[in-house]
Amino acid sequence: MASVEVDLSGIESGNTVTIKWRGKPVFIRRRTEEDIKSANSVDLASLRDPQEDSERVKNPEWLIVVGVCTHLGCIPLPNAGDFGGWFCPCHGSHYDVSGRIRKGPAPYNLEVPTYSFLDENKLLVG
Ligand code: FES
Repeated sequence: MASVEVDLSGIESGNTVTIKWRGKPVFIRRRTEEDIKSANSVDLASLRDPQEDSERVKNPEWLIVVGVCTHLGCIPLPNAGDFGGWFCPCHGSHYDVSGRIRKGPAPYNLEVPTYSFLDENKLLVG
């Protein structure tokens, strides 16, 4: 299976970059302290697809998710929407800074792909 190596050193805090992996976009967001706090201060009972932030990240500073809306497959826009994560313009799904669905028609959180950190600044997706 094809893996992609990504150099993380140029990604500034608060920014999201998009890479391609197996023909799909993958979002890599370098989260701020505020993002991390916000991702961890959510009442799980209020979530449609309840998942702790810690189940979705290996390092709280980095969120890695597949950039495909779980509703009908559009590509959500980063750093947008009511919860500061992503907004899918197709039918109005809002995802939070953990990539969890918070509002709109999408049924599930953005998928977390298989990945690992090769070192502090190197990510391997796949
Ligand atoms: Fe994203 Fe419908 S495809 S909201």
